[in-house]
Amino acid sequence: MKDSNFLRENNARHLWHPMAHPAEMQANPPAIITKAAGVRITDLDGHETIDAVGGLWNVNLGFSCAPVKAAIAAQLDALPYYSTFRGTTNDAVIELSWMLREFFAADGLTRAFFTSGGSDSVETALRLARQYHKIRGEAGRVKYLSLKKGYHGTHTGGASVNGNANFRTQYEPLLPGCFQIAAPYPYRNPFNESDPARLAQLCAAALEDEIAFQGPGTIAAFIMEPVLGAGGVIPPHESFMPMVREITAKHGILLIADEVITAFGRTGSWTGSRHWGVQPDMACTAKAITNGYFPFGAVMISEAVAEAFEQDRSGAGAIGHGYTYSGHPVGAAAAIACLKETERLAVHENAAARGAELFAGLKALQEKHEIVGDVRGGHGLMLALELVSDRAKKTPAAKDVTARIHEATYRAGVMVRISGPNIILSPPLILTAEEAAKIVSALDEGLAAA
Ligand SMILES: Cc1ncc(COP(=O)(O)O)c(C=O)c1O
Repeated sequence: MKDSNFLRENNARHLWHPMAHPAEMQANPPAIITKAAGVRITDLDGHETIDAVGGLWNVNLGFSCAPVKAAIAAQLDALPYYSTFRGTTNDAVIELSWMLREFFAADGLTRAFFTSGGSDSVETALRLARQYHKIRGEAGRVKYLSLKKGYHGTHTGGASVNGNANFRTQYEPLLPGCFQIAAPYPYRNPFNESDPARLAQLCAAALEDEIAFQGPGTIAAFIMEPVLGAGGVIPPHESFMPMVREITAKHGILLIADEVITAFGRTGSWTGSRHWGVQPDMACTAKAITNGYFPFGAVMISEAVAEAFEQDRSGAGAIGHGYTYSGHPVGAAAAIACLKETERLAVHENAAARGAELFAGLKALQEKHEIVGDVRGGHGLMLALELVSDRAKKTPAAKDVTARIHEATYRAGVMVRISGPNIILSPPLILTAEEAAKIVSALDEGLAAA
């Protein structure tokens, strides 16, 4: 390994960082993380912090999960790679597909299509949705609906259904035929409605209106995150996703749940769809499926959608889609070990308990710090503080202020994520009550630096 001077001199010089301006990264080089254990990370200076970001919403089991590391090492010895394209498969991926079928049985999802990550999973689901309708003789169903503020990765299909201009403007033109409706975001919405239940109804009505306007027979799928994550942690009212399910089913539109963050326990339920009592037609997963130990993902598919493909005798059901690393044996071995640990530790229960503590702690911070405009959470370990310079006007906090808060929180022992005016928390699901309390106290110090 090169020495620390070399690392500092070359930091952000020869690589471009995702979601950042290259010049800004060169001017303010990112923290160099060199070690991690449990829920803690350590930087090049030896400064240790709790990782309240959980890697990037993915390291649910923390950084020291020995069974996952052992499974990866053993799989590398036995079979480091073989393709699952037509004609060959591997033992690990067969076992994993059986385990996922069991895990997602309550969501009505019984088949897996493997990918290399979340954006791949979204792209896969969008493409399979169009193909599903073509197989069934409805080739005109090609459009996609989604929510403003939604995040669905950065492939062109995913970016086209994204609901945030940051990921769109510089890459336009995107896919035609993608339309977003207002998100059920009580703090800011075009209806000026702060009651979550009434807002959910207004957004559902907007969805009905858009479907009528486009024509149901032109729409392939509606995609949504059960709890919007990267857009600022926006949990919809409990009535929202069930209403969406009813509306989409009524119009023959597939419901794709983007569970890249929410699957495997983060909301306090095993899946985000189950959290709301909804069975989607497909679910996109990635992240915690391998806890960040290997890039991997899976699209889970309902029995009804699967039947359309499997019973097709015309050839239209042949899947012309896939990745070199679909069903990678090392990823599959990692996922098997993760799933066993995830279930053994019942991490969803801890996510619910620690999430409730953090939510209460953040609300107390709102009482104390004028800069905290909105606190969002209440559904496991995904929470956010929205920062404003003026509470009455809801003016978003300036970038230099959020940067100061980030740095002061980090110095106080906790890494958090800043996204626009939001501080986002998505810690590992194995967090203890003491660690949850430490996150709140470090944020208290951080906010004092505003
Ligand atoms: C809901 C959702 N979908 C898709 C993605 C994209 O996943 P990836 O970054 O693994 O491509 C993300 C990433 O954060 C996500 O949160």
